[in-house]
Amino acid sequence: MQEVLTEQYYIDLEDKHGAHNYHPLPVVLERGEGVHVWDVEGKKYFDFLSSYSAVNQGHNHPKILETLRKQAGTLSLTSRAFHNNVLGEYEKYATELFGYDKLLPMNTGAEAVETAIKLCRRWGYHVKGVEHDKAVILVCSGNFHGRTTTIISFSQDPDSNTDFGPYTPGFECVQYNDLKALETALADKNVVGFLVEPIQGEAGVFVPDDGYLSGAYDLCKANNVLFLGDEIQTGLARTGKMLCLDHEEVRPDILILGKALSGGMYPVSAVLCDDEIMMTIKPGEHGSTYGGNPLACKVAMASLEVLIEENLAENAEKMGELLRSELRKIDSPLISLVRGKGLLNAIVIKHEDPKAAWKLCLKFKENGLLAKPTHGDKIRFAPPLVINEEQMLECIDIIKKTVLAFG
Ligand SMILES: Cc1ncc(COP(=O)(O)O)c(C=O)c1O
Repeated sequence: MQEVLTEQYYIDLEDKHGAHNYHPLPVVLERGEGVHVWDVEGKKYFDFLSSYSAVNQGHNHPKILETLRKQAGTLSLTSRAFHNNVLGEYEKYATELFGYDKLLPMNTGAEAVETAIKLCRRWGYHVKGVEHDKAVILVCSGNFHGRTTTIISFSQDPDSNTDFGPYTPGFECVQYNDLKALETALADKNVVGFLVEPIQGEAGVFVPDDGYLSGAYDLCKANNVLFLGDEIQTGLARTGKMLCLDHEEVRPDILILGKALSGGMYPVSAVLCDDEIMMTIKPGEHGSTYGGNPLACKVAMASLEVLIEENLAENAEKMGELLRSELRKIDSPLISLVRGKGLLNAIVIKHEDPKAAWKLCLKFKENGLLAKPTHGDKIRFAPPLVINEEQMLECIDIIKKTVLAFG
């Protein structure tokens, strides 16, 4: 007879043999489908995190899965030492979809951000004419763009950057959602770019004021500075439009994509921009062994097609409205704020116990819904975009009951 292993077995195994760089909720998942995941003991949950918005298309989407299977059995990796017969097709598809001259393929989100930074600096020296090694990129307070040494150099989160110095120079932090601060910082002629998340996801789903992003874009244009839109978390239908910047009709000079570009199947990221920027990088000056591999390219195309074919932006908008309006009706002092756009949402928890948000997530888990706190008191609610109204109402019911029963 096969031994049934408990959740604790798997947790202990990770604890003993793996690095302790995460603090997961005590649940061990083994299967997923659509908006649901199942733990090793067979319990079913609603996934209200969607792997930090990577699984917008739902777990194990049949079209993406089939595409992955088929291409994996044909050709998975060639490296860029040789051409492959999928990369060009994918680049054509994605550049036409988003309206840019060219795409540079990478794997993780952080790599795409690094790529955007390099392109922006190159443009600064080769096109704008900034003096060698003097380029400055403006970033925002509360930013999260990944975990590489350069990216954490401009993070303000002590958990991200303490004792990982010395830090990469060339970044200056401006207050998020503050156009005056941006205008002042743009007076420096060495500024080549402004890197921004259209909504700050990791910081706790901070939605800037209407007009901030378009105002920031206009300021960048007036100062000959590139606008770098990090849509890794906000992009790809999550906030109710294909890109969150579409809400303000802003077309970033450099568009950064990741996460849902592969529907959770495979790490795929990309940077898109026009020739004036992209062609500043020449052969041999940037790359990645896996970037642009045929498996990733096929998966990315299928993932984008699913977003369009299933009208997931529209559904995100509709389901998001429903979620926020019902959450706002919950009569509990525990929820001090509900905010978000589309299906990127958060509640802010007010309680004397600083661990209340964590404890509430444990209760959500008991009641069949998985969510995770960020920055102590915020809980992100970001289910896969394939969620339907009936499922959403069930989730709202779980949230309501759990909050009202919480001491
Ligand atoms: C806005 C943003 N940028 C970049 C990243 C980094 O992506 P990755 O974890 O794939 O490196 C994240 C990840 O959460 C993100 O939310």
